[in-house]
Amino acid sequence: MNKSQALFKRDTNCLSDVMKLRFYPFVAERGEGAVLYDVDGKKYLDFNAGWGVANTGYNHPRIVKAVCDQMSRLSFVSTISVLNEKSIELAEALTKLTPGNFHKKVWYGHSGSDANEFISKIVPLATGRSKIMSFIGSYHGQTMGAYAMSGHPSQSKFAAGGDIVKVPYPYCHRCAFGKEEGSCELFCLKYIEEYIMSFVCRPEQIGAIIIEAVQCDGGDVVPPDGFLQGLQQICRKYDIILILDEVKIGFGRTGKMFGFENWDLVPDVVVMGKPLGGGQPLSAVVGRKEIMDAAVSAHLFTTAGNPVACASALETIKIIEDENLKDNARLMGDLLIDSFLKLKEKYEIISDVRGKGLVIGIELNKRGCAKEPADEAAALTVYRSYELGLLYYYAGVFNNVLEFTPPLVIREEQVKTAVQIIDQALSDVSEGKVSIDKLTAFGGWG
Ligand SMILES: Cc1ncc(COP(=O)(O)O)c(C=O)c1O
Repeated sequence: MNKSQALFKRDTNCLSDVMKLRFYPFVAERGEGAVLYDVDGKKYLDFNAGWGVANTGYNHPRIVKAVCDQMSRLSFVSTISVLNEKSIELAEALTKLTPGNFHKKVWYGHSGSDANEFISKIVPLATGRSKIMSFIGSYHGQTMGAYAMSGHPSQSKFAAGGDIVKVPYPYCHRCAFGKEEGSCELFCLKYIEEYIMSFVCRPEQIGAIIIEAVQCDGGDVVPPDGFLQGLQQICRKYDIILILDEVKIGFGRTGKMFGFENWDLVPDVVVMGKPLGGGQPLSAVVGRKEIMDAAVSAHLFTTAGNPVACASALETIKIIEDENLKDNARLMGDLLIDSFLKLKEKYEIISDVRGKGLVIGIELNKRGCAKEPADEAAALTVYRSYELGLLYYYAGVFNNVLEFTPPLVIREEQVKTAVQIIDQALSDVSEGKVSIDKLTAFGGWG
């Protein structure tokens, strides 16, 4: 038994399945840039980045220094009661990074979930309207309010609170209305304004609409141009707060600092998490002052926005600018999409390739039947890629989308290596060379 196998056995014995989203038995030991090493010394290219956290790569020396410096000066204070310069400096930076010429304020948490929980609590308080509109396929988090707003089947396992109205995301490859992209005149927007806002509830009952500018866990779905702008118009028309959940694609991933900037939006509220802390647990909500100040002491966490996490975040933001990581995300993303489109010519099982910068999905559907999800093939391809030295997972409401969210520091030769591995893995799976038995210990999305 090697070290990885021994640790896998211990982990199985002592860590709760409730916190596991596992696809293969990778045991990390150290990292550098877009590369991770396991405890047996094997090298892997990481095209997941810890679900989109490691935007600046692993062990960036500037982040290591910022964290160590802050730790040695002031290892902790609770920002909810003790003022500190780093939390103020970061809040000021975040209000400047987000568009909108209005007074903004910042709330801190630890995760995308607690940040979206803020939304579910504060919107009714701030607006006097009980309902929030969210999108089918969305993933906003695991706490009860965030869970309730989510529309992903992995988040329908138990009842969650909240007065939520869910509507279809513009997933054109699987249009909920059976329309064709390009000729539908964005029927999904009309459906929201003319149908939902008449038959389900009135616009005056809806406090906010929350949306991901690219719906990631729902299958890396990119909305058609015009959709998000149209949604913004509906919000403005009915005085509804527009909230963009940027937890997964914020901080450079799509080639812009925030994903919604690809469509020139000015949200009232932006939800941030994952990459914000540069690996430290940190989330933030940035929004109009009147929303952010709707209640005192209504959603606070003792260790949230602590100075070490804020120092790490400040350095992360500077690195994204100094190292032109937004440009690299755009360039490497285009290269990956071009390469994946070539694989689409080769493998009939690939029905769609889509993405924006470095959030990319390859949708797998069974041969000859474009819309029958090839979820087993997706799981096997992910597993085989791991064996060949490439880390990534699958997502999508049908578990049939290979998802790629590498660190934004990846280089061209790493992209080429990754594409070769994916090609090999798809070929091995299509030839039946990868046994399904390998997956039995891994629950995936459950
Ligand atoms: C868009 C989005 N929002 C919120 C979350 C929840 O974030 P966390 O897992 O940090 O609670 C996720 C997690 O995948 C996400 O993708």
